[in-house]
Amino acid sequence: MSHVAVVYQTQYGATQRYAQWISEALHSDLYKLSDVNAQVLRKYSTIIFGGAIYASGIMGSKQISTYFSDLPDTKLIVFTVGLSNPKTTNYQSIINKNFNGALQKSISFFHLRGAIDYKKLNFLHRIMMFALKNKVKKSAHTSPETSLFLETYGKKIDFTDKESINLLVRQAESLI
Ligand SMILES: Cc1cc2nc3c(=O)[nH]c(=O)nc-3n(C[C@H](O)[C@H](O)[C@H](O)COP(=O)(O)O)c2cc1C
Repeated sequence: MSHVAVVYQTQYGATQRYAQWISEALHSDLYKLSDVNAQVLRKYSTIIFGGAIYASGIMGSKQISTYFSDLPDTKLIVFTVGLSNPKTTNYQSIINKNFNGALQKSISFFHLRGAIDYKKLNFLHRIMMFALKNKVKKSAHTSPETSLFLETYGKKIDFTDKESINLLVRQAESLI
């Protein structure tokens, strides 16, 4: 058994892809969030959690927060996966919404860029993206992000990038 666990929560697979890459790089154990419990996680000295972002919510953040709160001596890393460009996005409000202040202090955060295939979206997600498109179109505010969103609306795009895990992997290695 490794001392490191990578745990993930995904809807369409981009977060799982990153979790697999990170787990391979660190020779760690890899779990879906639904396959772990507090007892399993207690065995690890470092836990890396990855969650996809939907409407500023990090999937699984509530559940993993419950586990993390009971692991004061475990080194904790969280990575998010979303379509926003991590180079130009401030994630603090998303972090505040998903992790309480005390936990934030013991977590190192990383943000990775995901993928979307509109054809594969479920009904709710399709409606949400449609509503967002109409809102963005009506808004007077434009940015590179909103332009990219409108250009790629309805299509399949994939920003996942194996190289982008390197900083996280180095940080995790320094903790082991
Ligand atoms: C309804 C909906 C809402 C989304 N909201 C956000 C968001 O708030 N921020 C963001 O960066 N990406 C957002 N995304 C993009 C997803 O985070 C992206 O597709 C990610 O790769 C999904 O990961 P998964 O494939 O692991 O589920 C949203 C996508 C959908 C369909």
